[in-house]
Amino acid sequence: MPLIETKKALRSALSNRAPGSLLGLVPTMGALHDGHLALVRKAVSENDVVVVSIFVNPTQFNNAGDLESYPRDHETDLALLNSVSEQLLVFVPPVAEMYQEGLHAKTYDFGGLEKVMEGAFRPGHFNGVGTVVEMLLRAVAPQRAYFGEKDFQQLQIIKSLVAQLELPITIIGCPIVREADGLALSSRNKRLSEGVRKEAPFIHATLKAVKTQFGTKNASSIEEWVKESFEKHPHLELEYLTIANERTLLPDAKIQDDQKYRAFIAVYADDVRLIDNIALN
Ligand code: PAJ
Repeated sequence: MPLIETKKALRSALSNRAPGSLLGLVPTMGALHDGHLALVRKAVSENDVVVVSIFVNPTQFNNAGDLESYPRDHETDLALLNSVSEQLLVFVPPVAEMYQEGLHAKTYDFGGLEKVMEGAFRPGHFNGVGTVVEMLLRAVAPQRAYFGEKDFQQLQIIKSLVAQLELPITIIGCPIVREADGLALSSRNKRLSEGVRKEAPFIHATLKAVKTQFGTKNASSIEEWVKESFEKHPHLELEYLTIANERTLLPDAKIQDDQKYRAFIAVYADDVRLIDNIALN
C-alpha cells in the first residue's frame, strides 16, 4: 500500500488515474477503529480511488495534554487499512508539510454553528478543523469526502465550509458505529481505565432515554433529568446535554414537526472527554 508524505507525491499519485474516475477522501487522525473503517469501506464501495489521510492536527487541540496523549499507532493503522483494501492511497504528512507557514489556523465564520457545544467548550477547535480539512480537500480534490455523525457538529461545519468555499465536493455523513454495549467507538476509549470503561455505556443509555422522553417532556426538564442522573456516576462528569435543531444546532423554543432534532452530549469519563449524539425524530 503506497504511503504518501508530501502534497507533491500525492498529486503525482493522483495524476495517474483513469480519466473520469471517482475519487473519495476519508480524513482521520489515526488510532483507527471500526468507526473509521466503516467510512473507508463506504468510500471504497462508492469510488474508484480512495485517499485516507492520517494526520493528528495540532491546531484543533485546545489542550496541549490532549494533543500529546492522543494515541498514535501507525503500524496498526496501516494493517487495518490494508485489511479493507490494498489499493488505498494513505496520506501521512508530517506537520511541517501541512503547516508550511507555521502552526496557525484560519478564522472562519460558520454562521454560528461553530459557537455552540464543542465550539463553546473547545475554543478555536473548529477553526483548526476547518483549516486542516480545507487543506486536505484542496490537496486531494476528491468528488466525495466522508465524515462520521459521531462528530455531528463537525459534519455540519464541514458542509458549511464546502458551501462557502464553493468546492465541488459532496460531503457524505455516515452513521455512528458503537460497541455492543452502546459506547460510541472513539480513539479516546483506549485511555479509559477498566472501571470507567464499564460505566461509559451509561452515556448512550442516557441518550436513548432522552429519545424516549422527547415529545412527551419539554427540553429543559429532560436536560434537568439528565443532570441529576449523572450525579449518581462519580466517574462521569456531564459537560453538556443539548437538544438542538440539526440544521442550526440551536435549541428551538417550540419543537417544529418539519424539523429534525438531535441530543448532543459531552462527558468527562475521569480525565477522558467523550462525545456522542442521537437522532430524536
Ligand atoms: P477522527 O476523530 O480521527 O475521526 C475521523 C472520522 O471518523 C470523522 O469523520 C469522525 O466523525 C469519524 N468517526 C470517529 N468515530 C466514529 C464512530 N464511532 N462512528 C462513525 N464515525 C466515526 O474527526 C477527526 O478525526 C478530525 O477532526 C478530522 C476531520 C480528521 C480533521 O482533523
